[in-house]
Amino acid sequence: MTSGTTIPTRPVSTTGERTYNFSAGPAILPEPVLKQAQQDLWDIDGSGIGILEHSHRGPVVDRVFEEAKADCRKVAGLGDDYEILFLQGGATMQFAMLPMAFLTPEATADYPDTGVWTTKAIKEAKRFGNVNVAFDGSEHNYDHTPADDEMKLTDGAAYLHYCSNNTIYGTRYGQPPSTTAPLVCDASSEMFSRPWPFDRHAMIYAGAQKNLGPAGVTLIIIRKDFLEKANTDVPTMLNYRKLAESDSRLNTPPVFGVYVMGQVFRWILNQGGLEAVQQKNDAKAKLIYDAIDGSGGFYRGVARSDCRSTMNVTFRTPSEELDKKFIAEAKERSMDGLKGHRDAGGLRASIYNAFPQKGCEELVKFMGEFAARAK
Ligand SMILES: Cc1ncc(COP(=O)(O)O)c(C=O)c1O
Repeated sequence: MTSGTTIPTRPVSTTGERTYNFSAGPAILPEPVLKQAQQDLWDIDGSGIGILEHSHRGPVVDRVFEEAKADCRKVAGLGDDYEILFLQGGATMQFAMLPMAFLTPEATADYPDTGVWTTKAIKEAKRFGNVNVAFDGSEHNYDHTPADDEMKLTDGAAYLHYCSNNTIYGTRYGQPPSTTAPLVCDASSEMFSRPWPFDRHAMIYAGAQKNLGPAGVTLIIIRKDFLEKANTDVPTMLNYRKLAESDSRLNTPPVFGVYVMGQVFRWILNQGGLEAVQQKNDAKAKLIYDAIDGSGGFYRGVARSDCRSTMNVTFRTPSEELDKKFIAEAKERSMDGLKGHRDAGGLRASIYNAFPQKGCEELVKFMGEFAARAK
């Protein structure tokens, strides 16, 4: 059966080549995942119906959810003591949903502030209880994440919330902070980019649109004993326990996002898991950091070198004018998305899991040529 008329076509690239997409998010996705999605948009599992068109309560979507959850646990090395949720509202919704469920007016939560995203999380948490800003990164222009001895923690904190990779400044933690409080991580811009002690966490969450899939779905990994403590006197759609009981399907869920995430988990497993992914990411990031450090001071890294992110490489040329020129010329060479975030300025190369090494090599080549011309 076919139906419908055609719609006007949009322009496509004349060469068929894809641009190197250095965008911080929404960001590049793995090619095999995109190709599989193209096929499954038309017909998934031989059902004669595409993934966008299936009921969220039917067997095909049941399978998609089951496999995505199982593969997510496999990638993270976690067992059934963790619940996997696929929620809406982005990572930003978690900034409010977490304290609404786990913070009370009498209690205090620890929040090291390592930049814009944690600042926003702190603002939301203050609506529900006390916040101890355990580290104030603004004193150092957010150029690093805190060592344990730089943090002032609260005895008996309700939880400690941190952001493992700071997308805007290009800094990341080498290890999660040490605490006896339940540990909660915003891993949005580096989820599944390296092995991480997920089992030390009460909860980890990540907006999908960087390393996991399309915008519109947020991955939540939550330990069941922590989940049991969640306040249930909240609006239904913000009730972690109800959401878990309904398998993230209290209402119509973002099925396509869950489907793509599931494909991305499988792609990670097929490569050999997080160790293999990390090796590739380390090699890619090293190429660019070496180019920065070897430029005789022409390029300057934004993040302190011991806290450099392998996902978001932030740097500057000697002037804003040259930054602009760099971005424009890079674009002519099919390298897009290199403008730094408006709060940090400069340049940022986001090189998530799916970003190819060849693209990093091309960028490094261009960086060398650009610096030689500008010097
Ligand atoms: C670390 C981090 N946390 C939270 C967010 C907000 O994510 P969302 O747009 O899904 O709400 C972002 C977005 O870039 C981010 O990088």
